[in-house]
Amino acid sequence: MSARQDWICRPGTALREQVALPGDKSVSHRAIMLASLADGTSRIDGFLEGEDTRATAAIFGQLGVRIDAPSDGVRVVHGVGIDGLRAPDAPLDCGNAGTGMRLLTGLLAGQGFPCTLVGDASLSKRPMRRVIDPLARMGARIDAGAAGVPPLTIHANSSLQGIDYTSEIASAQVKSAILLAGLYARGTTVVREPQPTRDYTERMLAAFGYPIEFEPGTARLEGGHRLHAVDVQVPADFSSAAFFIVAATLIPGSELRLPRVGMNPRRTGLLHVLRAMGADITETAAREEGGEPVADLLVRHALLRGIVVPQVHVADMIDEFPALFVAAACAQGDTVVTGAAELRVKESDRIATMAAGLRALGIGVDEAPDGATIHGGALRGGTIDSHGDHRIAMAFAVAAQRAAGPVAIHDVANVATSFPGFDRLAKQAGMGLEAG
Ligand code: S3P
Repeated sequence: MSARQDWICRPGTALREQVALPGDKSVSHRAIMLASLADGTSRIDGFLEGEDTRATAAIFGQLGVRIDAPSDGVRVVHGVGIDGLRAPDAPLDCGNAGTGMRLLTGLLAGQGFPCTLVGDASLSKRPMRRVIDPLARMGARIDAGAAGVPPLTIHANSSLQGIDYTSEIASAQVKSAILLAGLYARGTTVVREPQPTRDYTERMLAAFGYPIEFEPGTARLEGGHRLHAVDVQVPADFSSAAFFIVAATLIPGSELRLPRVGMNPRRTGLLHVLRAMGADITETAAREEGGEPVADLLVRHALLRGIVVPQVHVADMIDEFPALFVAAACAQGDTVVTGAAELRVKESDRIATMAAGLRALGIGVDEAPDGATIHGGALRGGTIDSHGDHRIAMAFAVAAQRAAGPVAIHDVANVATSFPGFDRLAKQAGMGLEAG
């Protein structure tokens, strides 16, 4: 784990440059996993050099997969085939990554060897029953702490059964864990979701030649097929773009270009909501790269008004609420978020940490179990505890650009889990941000 770091942020200049964003975290995790299980060698371009995704790559090294890193953002994965992983000789450390741990729990549930998954302090408090319970119904044996939290011990198991699972939680991690276990199960595995979630696992399995049927809200596959190596082009991460989209919207005079942003419709809920609030965001050069929609975005400053966020967008912007709360704080009137209880079990309780941070900057927030009402107003300077949550730290760096005094943000080292170099890019673009 990195040493503790702080930032002091204050208003900078209008954002008028172009910002080249790092690769998508969800796609990078899955590319390492599926390329490792494939027959043949896959090249991944645009790989996110974040702590979360590097932890996943290191784990596959421990599982016997050779992964070369010829340059920054590139991985060459020498796949070992669907049955080629070997027993690790030490616990597998997922770091801060819920995605890494939950997907790996599914992928490792049907292996002929046991293993243990561990994580950092934040991950060690996050709920794992949501994957353990359906995997147990498939026949897996997984031990967790009493509260259903890591470390997880996965027992050797070569006899998983397919399952038809209706999930109560809209979670791509749950869906993906079950589908990855389904690769090793006898018969058919079906996952049905209460709302459609990001479909990268499904799209990428298809790209690696694995037979799978899917539509929004349902995915179905049969165990026992093989994956074939393929090159993966990782788009820029929409969730990283979100901080710059909100910053350019809020800072007067801004006109910011963000090239090659991943535009998978299961990720872009924030665009719908910001536009409904009055944002000026143009998509140009919409195209497909490596089977994923991407576009160049042009974001101009605009005045925002509060809205009631339609629940239909919640799953499609689940990682964007810290950024949205900041936009709402700077909007005229109230913004109401409901149906977002999942925010309470992210890297921090994002409803509580955002409410506490905004209040420290003079903004009124009424918390609800599944959301909040944010009363737009004028931000003052203050001190924020990010609780080691990367997205909370970045959200308040953006908020500070509109604050009347300096904003000290504590515990920002985990920004490197998803967005290494955020501070450098933010400063280059014009934001006021210094190491504190
Ligand atoms: C992710 C799914 C989401 C998201 C996370 C990445 C994924 O989590 O918050 O950052 O890559 O599948 P949930 O599945 O818990 O909603």
